[in-house]
Amino acid sequence: MTKKLKPVGIVGTGRCLPDRILSNYDLERIVDTSDEWIRTRTGISERRVSNTDTATSDLATTAAKRAMEDAGVKPEEIDMIIVATVTPDMAFPSTACIVQSNIGAENAAAYDIEAACTGFIYGLSIAEKFITTGDAGTVLIIGAETLSKICNWKDRNTCVLFGDGAGAAILREVKEGEGILACALGAEGWKGQVLTLPAGGSRMPASVETINEGKHFIHMDGGEVYKFAVGIMPKATIKVIEKAGLALGDIDFVVPHQANIRIVESAAKRLRLDSKKMYVNLDKYGNMSSASVPVALDEALEQGLIRKGDCVVLVGFGAGLTWGSCVMKWC
Ligand code: ACO
Repeated sequence: MTKKLKPVGIVGTGRCLPDRILSNYDLERIVDTSDEWIRTRTGISERRVSNTDTATSDLATTAAKRAMEDAGVKPEEIDMIIVATVTPDMAFPSTACIVQSNIGAENAAAYDIEAACTGFIYGLSIAEKFITTGDAGTVLIIGAETLSKICNWKDRNTCVLFGDGAGAAILREVKEGEGILACALGAEGWKGQVLTLPAGGSRMPASVETINEGKHFIHMDGGEVYKFAVGIMPKATIKVIEKAGLALGDIDFVVPHQANIRIVESAAKRLRLDSKKMYVNLDKYGNMSSASVPVALDEALEQGLIRKGDCVVLVGFGAGLTWGSCVMKWC
């Protein structure tokens, strides 16, 4: 276990979900699917979908303001803004710079990171390094997505799985022995082709053909992603627990990425954890990629499921393929 120069922890959280609910029954009218199929294969009952005039930065800004209020932090105190997203408002400027302008955080550096569903956990690890070395005092991290805008609403294999939302956290120095104990990050880039959005970048710039061929939407080999997920969730949890010098029995609560209830239950079983210790809200929101973990964390805190001193694990996986985990003593 490495000794931290300064202990760093989450001191405030916030979330923002669009008001519009799209239920499985609504989807039955759009694609050839059923509520029964979606619920039994994924655990999802409904998801939130933003309006056409809402962009990722709009959800991110509201989540950020709520996290700042929760932490009692003023905009000018923020030294860095990190937005994790696969659905930025545009290629540039970054969504983080748009949020910076919206909240008036004039002293902050701002940039986006892209690690898909693992993005928020990657962001936590980066922020911790800046604070622990003294290069930043207060960091705002946001996981925000409008996946409804990159879903092919004619493809039942993917459109039933995703939703929109944003979650945010403020990180600062905390008391000795509290906060982040360890983070573990990884990627298996050679498996990246199982989950892609092929067009719109330098490999396949946008054209009439790319639009007609549906190349600006999510393409996924669900079975391959599923195999990766059920293997990596327990591995990533064990890795970070060992890195922190702890044992699985020390875990009080887990906030997993919310992709599929079968993936969460499989991880609980392999880790021999009571499934009550694993927070689940994917029934209400589906998979919100980088927003899933921070939204789930904010809800779990609001419901009093995490208490001071608890050993909390955040764990996720996503396109890339990427994975990440973080263990903290709640402060
Ligand atoms: N409604 C009805 N039938 C469907 C639907 C649907 N919405 N979707 C697929 N089917 C059909 C398939 O066409 C297939 O029919 P066939 O046998 O006639 O070909 C059948 O159902 C079974 O399909 P499977 O793929 O075997 O279903 P499975 O039980 O594996 O569940 C699922 C599919 C839910 C996609 C699962 O594989 C999964 O959850 N994978 C992981 C997805 C994931 O975690 N993605 C993360 C994205 S992360 C990010 O970074 C964005």
